[in-house]
Amino acid sequence: MPGKLFLRTFGCQMNVVDSAAIAGLLADAEGLAPALRPEDADVIVFNTCSVREKAQEKVFADLGRLRQLKRANPHLMIAVGGCVASQEGAGIVERAPFVDVVFGPQTLHRLPQLLARRRETGRAQVDVSFPQIEKFDHLPAPRAEGPAAFVSIMEGCSKYCSFCVVPYTRGEELSRPFDDLVAEIAALAAQGIRELTLLGQNVNAWRGQIDGAPADFAELLRYIAEIDGLERLRYTTSHPREFTQRLIDAHADLPQLAPQVHLPVQSGADRVLAAMKRGYTALEYRSIVRRLRKARPGLSLSSDFIVGFPGETEADFEATLRLASELEFDGSFSFLYSPRPGTPAAELPDATPRAAKLERLQRLQAQLDAQASAASAAMVGSTQRVLVEGPSKRSGAELAGRTANNRVVNFAGDARLRGRFVEVRVSAALAHTLRGERVDA
Ligand code: SAM
Ligand code: F3S
Repeated sequence: MPGKLFLRTFGCQMNVVDSAAIAGLLADAEGLAPALRPEDADVIVFNTCSVREKAQEKVFADLGRLRQLKRANPHLMIAVGGCVASQEGAGIVERAPFVDVVFGPQTLHRLPQLLARRRETGRAQVDVSFPQIEKFDHLPAPRAEGPAAFVSIMEGCSKYCSFCVVPYTRGEELSRPFDDLVAEIAALAAQGIRELTLLGQNVNAWRGQIDGAPADFAELLRYIAEIDGLERLRYTTSHPREFTQRLIDAHADLPQLAPQVHLPVQSGADRVLAAMKRGYTALEYRSIVRRLRKARPGLSLSSDFIVGFPGETEADFEATLRLASELEFDGSFSFLYSPRPGTPAAELPDATPRAAKLERLQRLQAQLDAQASAASAAMVGSTQRVLVEGPSKRSGAELAGRTANNRVVNFAGDARLRGRFVEVRVSAALAHTLRGERVDA
């Protein structure tokens, strides 16, 4: 009987893509099939997140529950990867001695060898190094599942925002070569992928060589948009610091580029932005958005916000509320600042009481939710071009599709429409989804 793998993913989209690669690697190397419950597994992998303290504590709490399983079945292999693994290294095995393998985001391709070595030696294996981009040369070719796919174009981050662990856990920015990307994306398009999201911590930091000449992210987009079969292109996350006019122009010129951008701003106050080392002012951010919307009228914009950064005053916070309302963000994420060990911001004095920070977070979240609802409500009555992804989550009798501005619409239709673009008239806006009816051509 082939063995089984229970894989649990915490955190961001980068981890979701890494987890798909881990499942593919272990299917190839050990013939592991997916298990639905940890109790049924021969190998358990946790792909972890350390971006906020809460996420990290959740990993250790959930890991603790595996101790019993290991006791009952000494052949069970437990591996911990991702950003907590990267940050803690051998500390994970000290805290949870029943863990067999610790691997980082840049060494996940070595997981089969690490498991083999653990079985041979009986000793826990830890490898959280940052070998250059060799990872992608050792991963199985991605397989299309459904009509939309994600492809990593770069790894890591070199921005070192003062609050963030990512540069330490994932390493510095490294771009994947142009030829590899085009080959991988063309193969996905040939398998029926119609919508592609280019992924990275800072996709617009991508640099490469195209036809022997240096090229940037805007140029990469122009080439990828030409690939046969790809009808819709997105990217996430971009950073305001390298949001060039060339990238803005690409939004005017490339019809494949979806009218939707996620551009983290974090704060609307220059004092806070400087302390965060974000490398832009609120005015510069506004200017990017103004030019983007000029290039692509109707563009939908979402963002990330941190509330309660050390030293943030009530006036700073109000500047954030104002910016969020003026720029009409929809569908944004806001987080309470979480001090991360090893980051410069964790050393800053912080006099704001937690209750005041929580109150600010609630105010911002209420405002952002209201803005998102208003944007959805404004879509009612419009006809949207929707990529049919499959059966709807709520009722298998309905279909779910995605609009150009990245909202899910549920509507009645034939399952054979999966993977096709159809026209849907939006009839209602619910809390997280839209409802609609197919408009027949
Ligand atoms: N590359 C992205 C960017 O340009 O900002 C961000 C990647 S980060 C993993 C995702 C989001 O988590 C950030 O935009 C930020 O809002 C939030 N975040 C990161 N560190 C945080 C911290 N220490 N406390 C609270 N939120 C944090
Ligand atoms: Fe983190 Fe800033 Fe990079 S938020 S991922 S250090 S751009």
